[in-house]
Amino acid sequence: MENRELINMINIHKWFGALHVLKGVNFTVRCKEVVGLVGDNGAGKSTLIKILSGYHKPDEGEIWFNGRRVIFNSPKEARMLGIETVYQDQALAPHLTVARNVFLGREVVRSMGFVDAKKIKEESMKALEKIGLNLRSSDLLINFLSGGERQGVALARALYFGARLIVLDEPTASLSIKECQKVLEFVKSVRDAGLSVIFVTHNLYHVCPIADRFVVLSRGEKIADVKKEETSIEELTKLIIS
Ligand SMILES: Nc1ncnc2c1ncn2[C@@H]1O[C@H](COP(=O)(O)OP(=O)(O)O)[C@@H](O)[C@H]1O
Ligand SMILES: [Mg+2]
Repeated sequence: MENRELINMINIHKWFGALHVLKGVNFTVRCKEVVGLVGDNGAGKSTLIKILSGYHKPDEGEIWFNGRRVIFNSPKEARMLGIETVYQDQALAPHLTVARNVFLGREVVRSMGFVDAKKIKEESMKALEKIGLNLRSSDLLINFLSGGERQGVALARALYFGARLIVLDEPTASLSIKECQKVLEFVKSVRDAGLSVIFVTHNLYHVCPIADRFVVLSRGEKIADVKKEETSIEELTKLIIS
């Protein structure tokens, strides 16, 4: 693991009306690191990563990306820099083709605003081959792919657009044990591809096998930031419910 910092969030504050949801949180992610962002429901995890992905603006604090101060005015700006947030439900559009999914929200447009279908088919097949996923056709609907293939499509998309960091917010919340296993395999393949990952969850058991480090939030404050070797599930559980 490289030690260089990819993300550095400093003294982040967020209020929703009178509710002080983040109270001066410092949060870093290093290159090729998998960070488990954990804490009970309502702790502020989603709010923190929504700030990182440009959905919310912090009321106070700074975000540094790859050594430069950044200010995101939209999710698109964060994505352009390489912060790819995969939300549980909207990760892929099941009723669209593989090709359309690789380019979702970023269609290659020809003059007059038409989507260049030929180009997105060719490019998406190339992106999939690069990660070793050889699908019969990029015209297949996501619905007909296996879970592993779907994650391959999500990964291909992130890599194609130069993502440096993948953020997964509660990716395992409603999954079976077998499906959880698939998500963990996905995270491994993302890390092996040289990216960093933030894995947000309230379930330590889901993230423990894969995380290099844990950051614990409680009522809007960071109460622990520990390497996996230096802690245990028991210790983290105590912190989370304290
Ligand atoms: N858009 C919003 N407007 C008002 N309150 C919000 C909003 N988003 C989150 N909250 C509140 O902020 C707190 C932290 O929420 P959240 O970041 O979603 O926590 P977590 O992801 O750790 O469960 C909760 O009390 C939640 O109700
Ligand atoms: Mg949440």
